[in-house]
Amino acid sequence: MADFLTIEGLSLADLEGLLEATRDNIPLAEGRAPTRATLAGLVVANLFFEDSTRTRCSFETAVHRLGGSVFNLTPAGSSLSKGESLLDTAQNIECMGVAAIVVRTAVSGGAKMVADGVRCPVINAGDGRHEHPTQALLDVATLLEEFGSVEGRTIAIVGDITNSRVARSTTHALTTLGARVRLVGPPTLVSPAFERITKGPGTVQTMTNLDAALEGIDAVIMLRVQLERAAGGGVSSDYRSMYGLTQERAARMPSHALIMHPGPLNRGTEIDDRVADDPIHSRILRQVTIGVAARMAVLENLLAPSGVLKKVSA
Ligand code: NCD
Repeated sequence: MADFLTIEGLSLADLEGLLEATRDNIPLAEGRAPTRATLAGLVVANLFFEDSTRTRCSFETAVHRLGGSVFNLTPAGSSLSKGESLLDTAQNIECMGVAAIVVRTAVSGGAKMVADGVRCPVINAGDGRHEHPTQALLDVATLLEEFGSVEGRTIAIVGDITNSRVARSTTHALTTLGARVRLVGPPTLVSPAFERITKGPGTVQTMTNLDAALEGIDAVIMLRVQLERAAGGGVSSDYRSMYGLTQERAARMPSHALIMHPGPLNRGTEIDDRVADDPIHSRILRQVTIGVAARMAVLENLLAPSGVLKKVSA
């Protein structure tokens, strides 16, 4: 049985296969194509031990569109609040005959821990600061919809890089596909060590000057400061002026450059209202739609008999 835990270690062929499936699923994710019955009779468990809006609801929607059933377990109202462990919870849920477990946890490596302890496929919906592989798929698929290819494109990812699972997963995916990634943030939140995470033909450059980093880019992905991971002791009062995508900054970007953000937005901190809502450049809501398509691609690859993914749990 396969899992989907990381982008790191995923082969180029598997990544491309999932991105193609994501693209093909977009009409269904938009509600413009008939639902499929690939997951008919299957029950998927959403185990969300950390808060979520987009990821949880889009996994739910994806299961529904593929004809399956899904239920959610969150700490409030479950025995997690009585001290039951992540693994005990997952093993008990597996014994109810679920086809797959989708897990989000604050523990880096928590998704792998669950995968090692159960037999059914496990999908990582974000584990601490480690990885968020379906977010990477939707980020790249959003760029591909615009540009056709990301090879040779320059993408800036800006904000709390150190604590961001999105930055890690999306950087792995982009460099595997040959993009140039600029990781940008205050020195406390971006370490030059990130330049070594490149595995593919792409490159990673760390930068602390946002204005320089936005020169010549094709897209910028803004990130929230991860206050729940004690990021640098909070956001300093000059964060917006130094690292926020203000209207003035956005106006200086190349005219074709896209504006993206995984959400949730902290408007007025990392991104200004008018930039987030820019009708021409912002793809923030488009990312959400493509997220449903990406999660459908992963679910079908793991649960449909013709799935292409083998156990990927690096
Ligand atoms: C991100 C997450 O939870 O890692 N959000 C998401 O999944 N769309 C980013 C964040 O929380 O800032």
